[in-house]
Amino acid sequence: MEQITFWNGVTMPQEGFGVYQITDHAEAVRTVRTALECGYRMVDTAAAYRNERAVGEGIRESGLPRGEVFVTTKIWVQDYGLEKARAAVDRSLRELGVDYVDLLLLHQPMGDWPGAWRALEEAYRAGKARAIGVANFYPHALMDLCLTVETKPMLNQVEIHPFFQQEKALALMRELGVTPQAWGSLAEGGHGIFAHPVLAEIGRAHGKTAAQVALRWALQRGVAIIPKSVRRERLEENLAVWDFALSPEEMGRIRALDVGHSEIVDHFDPAFVRMIHELRAHD
Ligand SMILES: NC(=O)c1ccc[n+]([C@@H]2O[C@H](COP(=O)([O-])OP(=O)(O)OC[C@H]3O[C@@H](n4cnc5c(N)ncnc54)[C@H](OP(=O)(O)O)[C@@H]3O)[C@@H](O)[C@H]2O)c1
Repeated sequence: MEQITFWNGVTMPQEGFGVYQITDHAEAVRTVRTALECGYRMVDTAAAYRNERAVGEGIRESGLPRGEVFVTTKIWVQDYGLEKARAAVDRSLRELGVDYVDLLLLHQPMGDWPGAWRALEEAYRAGKARAIGVANFYPHALMDLCLTVETKPMLNQVEIHPFFQQEKALALMRELGVTPQAWGSLAEGGHGIFAHPVLAEIGRAHGKTAAQVALRWALQRGVAIIPKSVRRERLEENLAVWDFALSPEEMGRIRALDVGHSEIVDHFDPAFVRMIHELRAHD
């Protein structure tokens, strides 16, 4: 397992796991414990997933020392603005039952995110977060952020998979020194990814599945990944991507699968923006 080093020197495992849509408390605790048993050492949650408490419990039940598990959480739009985001940081730490998180992100570039970013900078300076970053910051928003803040983000978590490769966004992140991390690295199951003819054929040549090829492709582009599964066998499958390499020819074949846009969300759709503002991470 490779580690990725942020511009501030903090390291993060290049592969972790996500817990989006695992809303049942017991299932979330069990998934975290199982993933840590499988060998994962990085977990991605968010206030909006409403499972931070379960994530904290799962980590404690694993018996692993706190310092061995890299924990990411995200502040939701409902809590943006300096004062509210300050309180939200403390709320997330309380829910998780930790003194600090390894990475603290703004979940969306909407609402008063400049105010919220100042709360993240404060949390970073106070040692409540070892690193801070953003999610879903498309290139224009990422550039705007980097030009206007005191502490630049260490990471940007955006949708990336073989059908939405985000070449330009990655180039900008490289230029700005911001680590890219993919959400939806399995396209949330879209595009028939698990039986995709190109990915499956490449996989057969390596004794791997289409899912493993998609994950390996991301790793070879220098992208961090956090695939999600509630099933042990899939968690194991998704972790078994460190013992093979795709050739330049295979990487080229996957490059041709890009459709150039998301079929999961449209951040530029006013209805989506309204939905984000209406979604509640807590009462
Ligand atoms: N920042 C953001 O706005 C944002 C947005 C979305 C996600 N995320 C983060 O990124 C993480 C990953 O993204 P995601 O959960 O949206 O989607 P994903 O990882 O692309 O796909 C997850 C889906 O694939 C299935 N799956 C996983 N491994 C599989 C395998 N080897 N074979 C067949 N099916 C498999 C899972 O089902 P089972 O669970 O039933 O196995 C689940 O339905 C999230 O959990 C979350 O932490 C962040």
